[in-house]
Amino acid sequence: MTTPPRPPLVVTYAEVRGATRALAAPLSEADCQVQSMPDASPIKWHLAHTTWFFETFVLERHERAFAPFHPAFRVLFNSYYNGIGEQHPRPQRGLVTRPGLAEVLAYREAVDRRMAVLLDRPHAAALAQLVTLGLHHEQQHQELMLTDVKHLLSCNPLAPAYASALPPPAQPVAAADASGWVEYGGGLVEIGHPGGDDAGFAFDNETPRHRHYLRPYALARRPVTQGDYEAFVADGGYADPRWWLAAGWDAVRTQRIEAPMYWRDGGALFTLHGLQARDPQAPAVHLSYYEAEAYARWWSAQHPGQPPARLPTEAEWEHAAAGATLAGANFVETGALHPRAPADGGALGAPRQLFGDVWEWTSSSYAPYPGYQAWEGAVGEYNAKFMVDQYVLRGGSCATPASHMRASYRNFFPAGTRWQFSGVRLARDLA
Ligand SMILES: [Fe+2]
Repeated sequence: MTTPPRPPLVVTYAEVRGATRALAAPLSEADCQVQSMPDASPIKWHLAHTTWFFETFVLERHERAFAPFHPAFRVLFNSYYNGIGEQHPRPQRGLVTRPGLAEVLAYREAVDRRMAVLLDRPHAAALAQLVTLGLHHEQQHQELMLTDVKHLLSCNPLAPAYASALPPPAQPVAAADASGWVEYGGGLVEIGHPGGDDAGFAFDNETPRHRHYLRPYALARRPVTQGDYEAFVADGGYADPRWWLAAGWDAVRTQRIEAPMYWRDGGALFTLHGLQARDPQAPAVHLSYYEAEAYARWWSAQHPGQPPARLPTEAEWEHAAAGATLAGANFVETGALHPRAPADGGALGAPRQLFGDVWEWTSSSYAPYPGYQAWEGAVGEYNAKFMVDQYVLRGGSCATPASHMRASYRNFFPAGTRWQFSGVRLARDLA
């Protein structure tokens, strides 16, 4: 089987940059300015920072007569690269009212024009690699733009919609029989990105591919649903310390958490389409690692005759996903911008919704693979320095661009994170 030729990089560049602008198009200048919490960034900052990445890592190194668009932007829109220099404090990004949105958009256009000149000429492989990294970086920020603006709009008592209406599902939704387990024999397996020119882009944290021993295990056929999770909440799950890790119980009590983020009274849920009724068959979403783990413990107590449930490891997840297709998954391109019930059909022997809908928490700490080497230079700070105190999530979400996802992809967040499109698929040991 031959893979179709990839489009020229200059074309992919224009597509990805255009997609970012399209995400910001429904927003006002005020929407783009406000920072609703320290973890989230203003949309204007995302628009500028993704541009800064190309200006700093590509133009500055490869343009003959490089001059910065604005010398102050080097610090203002540097996120965390100490190898580049100082950074404006993250929690104060929303206080930067100038440059205004128009100047940030002009910054984008100026850098795009200069990038097009570079990419239209014959260029070195090293330049192409940096540009490709910049485009995958930009796609990560596209997802963050949606999660950050969702949090911002959720703070408004009017519950405004980012986009007007939920598009209808592409296929009839499945009946509730999508539950059950898919079993795997385990043994010595390989995980990680294979590398090489034909395998496509991967972040350094997905490499090297390596062997991993798995005990026999089973994965749930679908992620935990809203209906499943409602039973946990109705059973007093948030008031019972038996189900919670100590840090999770502390979070529940100190933050007065009683339900997943964005749940509202009367079975409603705040979404990017405003308030919607919760769909009991759609995946539960905006769960922290603590909430995912507590649900697994509670579920096990409700099913005393069965092996206890737990979160999958990232190796178990990747082994199961290795042969799965991304086609038909609910990524950002569907426009749903919300996890959906699974489509009808699908093989009984395969898990559904591994890709898209919700990121799935794993029990794996975000750590280097055996033999891992970070990229050289300042871009080595991209992933390596975050390999502590975080857990790996897999599979992408309804806010992830389809071309950004693959089986070996490792996302990561601290255990208390709730504003991402994160959910959970249960696993358990066999025999
Ligand atoms: Fe970034």
